Amino acid sequence: MARSTPPQGTQLPCDAVAPPSIAWARWSLAALAVLTVAAVLVGFVLLPSVQRDFSAQGLWDSICRAAGVPADWGKSREPVKAGWPGTEVVLARAMAARAGDAAIGRGGTLALNCTMCHGAQGLSASDAPNLAGQYPEVIVKQLMDYRSGHRRSAIMQALAQGLSDRDIADLAAYYAYLPKARTAPTTYDESLPALVRVGAPLRNIAPCIACHGGIDQKFGAPWLEGMPAAYLTEQLAAFRSAERRNDAQAQMRNVARSMTDQEIAEVARFYSRKAGGGGEK
Ligand code: HEC
Ligand code: HEC
Repeated sequence: MARSTPPQGTQLPCDAVAPPSIAWARWSLAALAVLTVAAVLVGFVLLPSVQRDFSAQGLWDSICRAAGVPADWGKSREPVKAGWPGTEVVLARAMAARAGDAAIGRGGTLALNCTMCHGAQGLSASDAPNLAGQYPEVIVKQLMDYRSGHRRSAIMQALAQGLSDRDIADLAAYYAYLPKARTAPTTYDESLPALVRVGAPLRNIAPCIACHGGIDQKFGAPWLEGMPAAYLTEQLAAFRSAERRNDAQAQMRNVARSMTDQEIAEVARFYSRKAGGGGEK
């Protein structure tokens, strides 16, 4: 027997529940809006402002910083163009080939002219750079740049004039063979200065250890560990002012251009630290 269906138009019991009131919907929307504004203020303004390194000026600046985008895409952020050929040297793996004893011996004899400034064992007692353990391709490139005038230094330009390609290769072989001031590259560690460890992404500065050893060693990037602080400071300042511009593709000029004096002093102090000093593993 067919079940009786309720006649059309009859109210079902559930219809008895009142429809959500418009007022309630309005309240919940308003509450949502208030919460959103509060969350934005807390996340972008309040929380960043209690960070130790907070330096934003104004609401917009602080929102941009919290969101991780530069507030100012202005001209000062333009990367340095390599421009006028910074160097004529094309780095080749062959420059780093292991040299024979004859080359090292000949280089050692030539190096007697260099000990006055670069030290008897290639470790400078003055503020000249250390050469001991320097990568051979670095010594070759730098001497060639002095010789062609692409890197300026009254002393070194004059000295390099008298060197043949073979002299340069042998000097590089000799210095590469001497033990370094510090034997191990910096390894990643929270105590390293931020620029060395992670760079400054907002300013397009790659970490120093991505090129100078630690994470990676880029071919042609010098060994910095144990160099005199005064020399490091001078070179970074020279890259910043583009007075030194023999770095291919302006690699170092682009790192140094937005570094402050304090940052230069900090990384120079860090790399010049003596073996066993702070930050070393
Ligand atoms: C009178 C002191 C003096 C003598 C002698 C001297 N140098 Fe130098 N050398 C310097 C100074 C100072 C610098 C840093 C110059 C600069 O600011 O570019 C330098 C830089 C260098 C560099 C660049 C190092 C780097 O890390 O970029 C190399 C390579 C070098 N010298 C090799 C030699 C060789 C090889 C000799 C011997 C034939 C020699 N030098 C003799 C003072 C000297
Ligand atoms: C993208 C790779 C790269 C990064 C990142 C980098 N460097 Fe360099 N750096 C180089 C190269 C390549 C040279 C050699 C330039 C040349 O050919 O003259 C150099 C040269 C230098 C020199 C000159 C050394 C000498 O003996 O001539 C100093 C000092 C230096 N870098 C410091 C730093 C510091 C400090 C940092 C981090 C703030 C840094 N670099 C980040 C690639 C890099």
